[in-house]
Amino acid sequence: MEEVQRKQTLFSAVQPSGAVTIGNYIGAIRNFAALQDAYNCHYAVADLHAITVKQEPAALRRNTLELIALFIACGIDPEKCVLFVQSHVPAHCELAWVLNTITYPGELSRMTQFKDKSAKHADNVNMGLMDYPVLMVADILLYQAALVPIGADQKQHLELTRDLAIRFNNRYGSTFTVPDGYFPKGSSARIMSLADPLKKMSKSDENPNGFITMGDDRESILRKCKRAVTDSEAEVRYDPQTKPGVSNLLTIYCAFTGKSTAEAERDFAGKGYGDFKLAVGETVADALAPVQAEKARLLADKAYLNAVMKRGEEAAARIARKTLSKVYRKVGFYTGE
Ligand code: TYM
Repeated sequence: MEEVQRKQTLFSAVQPSGAVTIGNYIGAIRNFAALQDAYNCHYAVADLHAITVKQEPAALRRNTLELIALFIACGIDPEKCVLFVQSHVPAHCELAWVLNTITYPGELSRMTQFKDKSAKHADNVNMGLMDYPVLMVADILLYQAALVPIGADQKQHLELTRDLAIRFNNRYGSTFTVPDGYFPKGSSARIMSLADPLKKMSKSDENPNGFITMGDDRESILRKCKRAVTDSEAEVRYDPQTKPGVSNLLTIYCAFTGKSTAEAERDFAGKGYGDFKLAVGETVADALAPVQAEKARLLADKAYLNAVMKRGEEAAARIARKTLSKVYRKVGFYTGE
């Protein structure tokens, strides 16, 4: 018990907004399990965030359950970590409201993700989309997290988290831990689209050849890798500036084999792109097969997954309530005392 208390606290979340890609896995989820022994970990399914773009209700419900199963299949141990669904803990919305009162619209309208998503969902630029980062700040600060494992696309949101924590602490006295981001090394923090290696790999890409999902079958994975955009040279060399497609495939290969870029380059010295793409595809398919099997096994036991979520909800709510009470006291809400 003492041991647990000495560990630093960590928080991260993933949206259940469609299929999870190998970008999500390499950039974030694979670190979740890797960090669970060293940190006091909290991992959430960010369903409140997901509804900032239109979701089909039945699909959202299904994706939430699937994401909990995927977390566990990727090695997250619910006995070691607090694993829960964001909407099950009302304190997230409650803290977000308070934080809204110290956030300026200009800080939110200049966020890259807000601008990108507004352009992409021009028919649904809602307040939730703009307020998305403040809810994310609330997620992190509620647990007094010191560390947040995320991909490079979330850097701006982490900066806002630090800004708001400091702003609140300055105004009301020390309340929140100011967190640091934990980014995977090198280009693993930003896996690019297979169809356009200058664009981030994204589950919302309308071209399904751009991304590999954690649920893709072997044949699809091999096909997508085979079709991946590369260049007109025939040399497997890591150089993101001049060879973004090949470099991205090398990053994916290294992420799943644990090899360094130099080792990977040696593996493919003198080989053509056909062999290289096939090897990358096979590596990814081999790595995903056991995860897919374990996820399927877990999904067959909904009672177990529900029990995990319930336990996670209770543990998360306890911690979150403690921080929220402190915040309510600091801002001057009447508590009867
Ligand atoms: P989401 O669901 O979009 O992505 C989940 C995680 O995957 C990372 N990621 C990538 N990493 C590398 N290459 C890519 N192509 C790639 N695409 C996505 C993301 O950086 C993220 O770490 N806002 C968050 C969810 C969230 C959250 C939080 C995260 C809600 N509250 C609190 C941390 C702390 C998001 O967009 O996740």
